[in-house]
Amino acid sequence: MATTPPPQTYRVKSFGCQMNVYDGERMAELLGEQGIRPATEGEDADLVVLNTCHIREKAAEKVYSDIGRLKRDDGTVPLIAVAGCVAQAEGEEIMARAPTVRMVVGPQAYHRLPEMLVEAQAGRRVTDTDMPAETKFDVLPRRRRSGPTAFLTVQEGCDKFCTYCVVPYTRGAEISRAYADLIDEAQRLLEAGAKEITLLGQNVNAWSGEDGKGRPVGLDGLIRDLAALPDLARIRYTTSHPNDMTEGLIAAHGEVAKLMPFLHLPVQSGSDRVLKAMNRSHSVASYLAVLDRARTARPDIALSGDFIVGFPGESDAEFEETLSLVESVGYAQCFSFKYSARPGTPAATMDGHVAPEVMDERLRRLQATLGRSQLAFNRASLGKTCEVLVERKGKLPGQWLGKSPWLQSVHFTGEAAVGDLVRVELVEAGPNSIAGRLVQ
Ligand code: 5AD
Ligand code: SF4
Repeated sequence: MATTPPPQTYRVKSFGCQMNVYDGERMAELLGEQGIRPATEGEDADLVVLNTCHIREKAAEKVYSDIGRLKRDDGTVPLIAVAGCVAQAEGEEIMARAPTVRMVVGPQAYHRLPEMLVEAQAGRRVTDTDMPAETKFDVLPRRRRSGPTAFLTVQEGCDKFCTYCVVPYTRGAEISRAYADLIDEAQRLLEAGAKEITLLGQNVNAWSGEDGKGRPVGLDGLIRDLAALPDLARIRYTTSHPNDMTEGLIAAHGEVAKLMPFLHLPVQSGSDRVLKAMNRSHSVASYLAVLDRARTARPDIALSGDFIVGFPGESDAEFEETLSLVESVGYAQCFSFKYSARPGTPAATMDGHVAPEVMDERLRRLQATLGRSQLAFNRASLGKTCEVLVERKGKLPGQWLGKSPWLQSVHFTGEAAVGDLVRVELVEAGPNSIAGRLVQ
């Protein structure tokens, strides 16, 4: 078999959730340690990692078309690695269908990428979709670079088995990373320039561990201890499950100033019958009760959620219940999706699949309702003066973009720099962003 010279340049393309973004950054760091540098814009990379998502719709087909597009004008291809959840779920098929793919690596095995690369250079095609006992976190390199906002995976995997969802199969069982490792990684991120850290997990609020004194702690304890790090300005966390919202975590929203007033709490449907069929193990009432407690602890908390329309068997009346729920909560933002049958999940073989045009119409109505809710939330913020963490330059001269504590995108002009926390008065609201005025 033909050997390939060692790659000089790489490109990692991440799709899907924030955890994939985190994984993509870690793979980039691993490749950097091998002496491979990131390809510049427009430059052909010698090694391309497609870090894929399997949560919805045609994800696998997208991977095949992305692979096809990597062919260069002269007919050659880079070394191609397929990583992420499609790799985990469909690794064998990818190897069979896409002969240009040299490496398939699952989300729990990507720390082995350097060894796989040696094999691939020797002309072999390698697949690693193990979920090994040693965790990747123990061997990944230390963080060296960070923008003002950084992700930190604290928990991974899911034991909830919602009937529509592939995550328990692609990411595996719930694991919590060790407390000391997280404090250490957070410190590295701060040294590397981070001001805000978002704690990530598929069920981040199920995180548990033992603190430095051997006491059991939950996510709220971790947040309180991270808040003691002087260089850290802001803490966020996502994604949470309603059943794991502990009293301690809710209380932290009222007590820890660095914990931002924002709660992303997916509910998926406003119908108890649908929630049961989804195996969500919470009701609409118990979900609303959690939101009430969060608002009591932190009255200005911004609420966010995820919704699925057209779950098998969802009737018109049940969909209307979702709309009513949205109206009653007053979300600051939300994600909404058409149900997508995922092979191997229980819902895929349920009766009553909803017609695509019905799903389209339901999604359109839901998104219109959510859009109104988001605009109303943004309008209600006008007149407030808040801190904005500056993330990047805007398109206009002297313009800056950043986030409010409530995760709104805010733009303003004036003297500032990336990474600054500046005081801004919110003056004009759109559905997706707010214009602000710098307050001296
Ligand atoms: N179809 C549509 N949406 C899904 N999600 C998860 N699985 C599916 C699916 N099969 C959505 C849920 C979840 C978010 C991350 O993706 O709303 O909260
Ligand atoms: Fe998927 Fe449900 Fe687990 Fe979220 S809680 S990752 S939707 S199985």
